[in-house]
Amino acid sequence: MAISHAKIEKNATLLLGLSLGVVAIGGIVEIVPLFYHQNVIEKVEGMRPYTPLELVGRDIYIREGCYVCHSQMIRPMRDEVERYGHYSLAAESMYDHPFQWGSKRTGPDLARVGGRYSDEWHVQHLTDPRSLVPTSIMPPYGHLVTTLLDTRNIGGHLATNAMVGVPYTEDMIKFAGEDLAAQADPNLDSAGLNERYGDKVKIGLFDGDPNQITEMDALVAYLQMLGTLVDFTAYEPLSEDNRR
Ligand code: HEC
Repeated sequence: MAISHAKIEKNATLLLGLSLGVVAIGGIVEIVPLFYHQNVIEKVEGMRPYTPLELVGRDIYIREGCYVCHSQMIRPMRDEVERYGHYSLAAESMYDHPFQWGSKRTGPDLARVGGRYSDEWHVQHLTDPRSLVPTSIMPPYGHLVTTLLDTRNIGGHLATNAMVGVPYTEDMIKFAGEDLAAQADPNLDSAGLNERYGDKVKIGLFDGDPNQITEMDALVAYLQMLGTLVDFTAYEPLSEDNRR
């Protein structure tokens, strides 16, 4: 044994090859079960693709680097669940390209921030965080209220997501502009939007201004839907004896 080990130690190529082999076994044992484990690949009721307005809001979230301070993944630990709500399910980020899980929490986790505050609160907080939370170190994002939302490529944006597997239908892509407008103005006809994305879609003025659709509208629409799609009063986790 000792002699053959000496051989390996003296031959760099052999040592490298065998080391890779050992590491690969470890990797396979950890990763392969994830493709078969029911909890990871289960389909969960309530999940739907982002509406066009939410999707652009998500782009702004990524562009402004919100993820640098905010994770979107509630771990199944008691302190996290008590503070933020039900732990995040894999299915809840199934339409995220890229996902926003993260481990950096300079600010609180935002996976279930939807519905926790009013739209006005969000607009005020994003414009001047310290006016609501005096000790906050979050930067202000007031420019979002005055920046008109660029919606020119919205159809293409949905189509691109469809290419990577998000189930956007032809109609969703075709009417993306109309659906975006309908969500940001309660006075417009929302029948199409509701038909395509369901009745629970939150429609509102978001930034409070009915005259124009701004980046603030999109970002707040996105924040307000985070973590709200799955109804956890009806959700039962899959376990060994509770499989479909
Ligand atoms: C430099 C780090 C930092 C960045 C970048 C940042 N935040 Fe925050 N955020 C914080 C901190 C710290 C808090 C907690 C204090 C407060 O409420 O202001 C917070 C709180 C929040 C809250 C309230 C959460 C709750 O449950 O009370 C929301 C919503 C939020 N941020 C959204 C955003 C969005 C959207 C962006 C990007 C446009 C962003 N943040 C960027 C640090 C940050």
